[in-house]
Amino acid sequence: MEDLEEMIRRAREAMAKAYAPYSQFPVGACVRGVSGTLYAGCNVENASFPEGWCAETSALAALVLAGEQRIEAAVVVTAGDEPCSPCGGCRQRLSEFAAPDTPILLCFGEDGRQATTIGELLPLAFDGHLLPGAAPSGSS
Ligand code: THU
Repeated sequence: MEDLEEMIRRAREAMAKAYAPYSQFPVGACVRGVSGTLYAGCNVENASFPEGWCAETSALAALVLAGEQRIEAAVVVTAGDEPCSPCGGCRQRLSEFAAPDTPILLCFGEDGRQATTIGELLPLAFDGHLLPGAAPSGSS
């Protein structure tokens, strides 16, 4: 992955800013748009637990706000000694803007790394091209 170390750095920076007072499980994410720009995000929890959201979701919101709709890579960072595999909802959200072979790197602890792809995380993803009249960014 091009820019990999910088993506990890940005995701770690985001993790440090996570708002996770309830789970005490800060997560940072960074996605690279096709422009080469990096977009980071952290998880943001809420006293009404289901209203919180994940780091990947924050990073994707920043990507879309900047006018981009495709990602070339994603990094997810957590502090524990096991990789944080993206939740089901985030797999679907990443898939919206990615290709099956888009690399996803899970970084954990000091220097733990596990490489995967969105296709491996979410085989047979639901794709918006099935929807009548829709022209989702994932369809091109
Ligand atoms: N979390 C993420 O940010 N990304 C994931 O893929 C899994 C879980 C967050 C949500 C919540 O704030 C905390 O981790 C514990 O579930």
